[in-house]
Amino acid sequence: MQQRRTCCHASTVGLTTVLLLAAHPAEAAEFVAPYVSTVEEDVALMLDLAGVGPDDYLIDLGAGDGRIVIGAAERGARGHGVELDPDLVTLARGRAEEAGVADRVRFLEGDIFDADLGQATVVTAYLFPEANLRLRPKLLAELAPGTRVVSNAFDMGDWVPDGRVYGRTSGGAMLWIIPARVAGDWAFELSGRHFRMSIEQRYQMPMVRLTEGTATARVLDATLSGRKFSLMATMNGQRLAFNGIAGDDSIAGFALLESEDDFDSRKWVARRAGPNNLNP
Ligand SMILES: C[S@@+](CC[C@H](N)C(=O)[O-])C[C@H]1O[C@@H](n2cnc3c(N)ncnc32)[C@H](O)[C@@H]1O
Repeated sequence: MQQRRTCCHASTVGLTTVLLLAAHPAEAAEFVAPYVSTVEEDVALMLDLAGVGPDDYLIDLGAGDGRIVIGAAERGARGHGVELDPDLVTLARGRAEEAGVADRVRFLEGDIFDADLGQATVVTAYLFPEANLRLRPKLLAELAPGTRVVSNAFDMGDWVPDGRVYGRTSGGAMLWIIPARVAGDWAFELSGRHFRMSIEQRYQMPMVRLTEGTATARVLDATLSGRKFSLMATMNGQRLAFNGIAGDDSIAGFALLESEDDFDSRKWVARRAGPNNLNP
């Protein structure tokens, strides 16, 4: 515990350096990262990257002295921090009082792996890479599609970030947007034509197979950002574009069908025709 204290406010040291110098791995069984504060400039960059505003509820996992939650509250958001060290919880509560935002934030003593993430629209963390990897399935399972996750300095393994900024000391912060679960088989009808859409999903990357009877479309692009799904393809000389919002059992929006001499825009609803599964 004393050793962690000496790590505080390591604006010139950084968590990367502490990772390299960590001498007692046994301590990591409980504390998955030491107390090293994100420098204030980088707090602002992280909040900018997530686009934090008054409608947001931010949860900082491993809240330290509370500066990320307090910074979010100073932008009008609400939120709470989860922190294992009770002294830091007390420190963070005092800093929130001083900043005049105590009515919009809370600091809870607890383990990040047990944290209730239900309210979050934004989750932040400045932890070690191993901790991010342990958190990843929890984030994907418990956060609503569209929730923004920002990690200072460390990535999420093979989950490619949706955005990135370069920070003053830490090497930058990364943003991930929790993707809707679109994996599986879908069916839809357009002007009496019957289509099937089969989607494999790797995080926010959908791999789509679109068929109409025995004809298979050539997929040009397929993207997913939170619940926003889009697909561009060509089939039998016709260009097809679909944009929709993914719910649990439907993707609803608009379809554009364009050929040399025809252009058609109409409402589009794809419905699940098979099991819902997300890899991994
Ligand atoms: C690198 S500091 C980041 C502090 C703050 N988020 C910031 O960016 O300034 C990591 C924090 O995570 C806390 N922590 C480590 N393991 C934890 C766990 N299992 N549950 C809750 N907090 C933990 C540490 O006590 C420390 O305060």
